[in-house]
Amino acid sequence: MIFRSIINYVVTKLDITVDLQYGDSGKGKVTHFLCKTKKYTHVIRYNGGGNAGHTIFHKGKKFITHQVPVGVFFGVRSIIGSGCALDPDALFKEIRELENGGVRTKGLIFVAENVHIVTPAAKEEDGKDRKVGTTKRGIGPTYRDKYARTGVRAESIPKLKPYLIDLYDEFNIKNRDAVVLGEGAQGFGLDIDWGDYPYVTSSHCTSAGALLNGFPPQSVRDIWGVAKAYETYVGLKNFEPKNESVFGRIRELGQEYGATTGRPRQCNWLDIALLEKAARMNGVTKLVINKIDVMNRANAWKIRENGEVVSFKGAEPMKNYIRKRLAPVGLKAKDIFFSESAETV
Ligand code: IMP
Ligand code: MG
Repeated sequence: MIFRSIINYVVTKLDITVDLQYGDSGKGKVTHFLCKTKKYTHVIRYNGGGNAGHTIFHKGKKFITHQVPVGVFFGVRSIIGSGCALDPDALFKEIRELENGGVRTKGLIFVAENVHIVTPAAKEEDGKDRKVGTTKRGIGPTYRDKYARTGVRAESIPKLKPYLIDLYDEFNIKNRDAVVLGEGAQGFGLDIDWGDYPYVTSSHCTSAGALLNGFPPQSVRDIWGVAKAYETYVGLKNFEPKNESVFGRIRELGQEYGATTGRPRQCNWLDIALLEKAARMNGVTKLVINKIDVMNRANAWKIRENGEVVSFKGAEPMKNYIRKRLAPVGLKAKDIFFSESAETV
């Protein structure tokens, strides 16, 4: 009897991408790469909204997506999940821009009927923020209203009707054998619970946040952590060490300006303890460390550990150190990818 019930139980498979730092670590590139190389039936954005800016190179052309999941570039069903905050007008604008750029979206974009809507009032209120340095996309007030049970959900917006789906229906009734990529936004350091509160966003940016979109824990396959070889942060807290010209150089070489707001990103060395913590708490099984090319060009090889800066003679000693520090998290050398290109992993 027990055996029978196990073999009849088909569960959706879910891979997750999750940023282990403060956003902007190159998730757009990694999700695009995964979508190109693995066979997904769906891509679902699981948190955040128009605050995100994912830079994607597709067929030699640069795109920046904010709310639309990367699946549209490959004709894969692309869902804005229940963990997101959706701005319908910005979504329609983004769809038009993608279409103008030659990306076909028709019949590919879906919206969870229970996702909360960013209202004009939410954007106006967020526009007045002087404390956190938000992206002013209405994110905080939207999640606040959601939890105050005064929010507006997609199901009540007539112009979203053609896009609406019920996530239970999609994955548990219609497509039990779905293979899904969960596309994360923001990052562990910006997570509402685990980030540096109050300098955080208002959503669950961890791999657990993907599950909150209605996926059972058994569905999880690989969790792709994404980090940069150095760190960046945009917002109002002090993050970049003062009077160190190397960070100005890294900012220019790495083009560290917000994809959504154009603000300069503050830079600092990789915090290895934060990376270890994020890898552990997110259950990372594969890790991509981006922008080794930028470190090469800046010719600076440093990380932070226990409040001190540790220097290395070059890329290889630093990579070896990272491998050694992450081995106890269960990450083997073959599971850690150091990327030197903005366009591929
Ligand atoms: P909010 O998400 O717009 O409320 O902004 C809260 C904080 O998160 C601010 O410091 C933003 O700069 C930061 N933030 C939000 N989204 C992103 C992102 O996609 N990348 C990097 N930082 C972000
Ligand atoms: Mg970004």
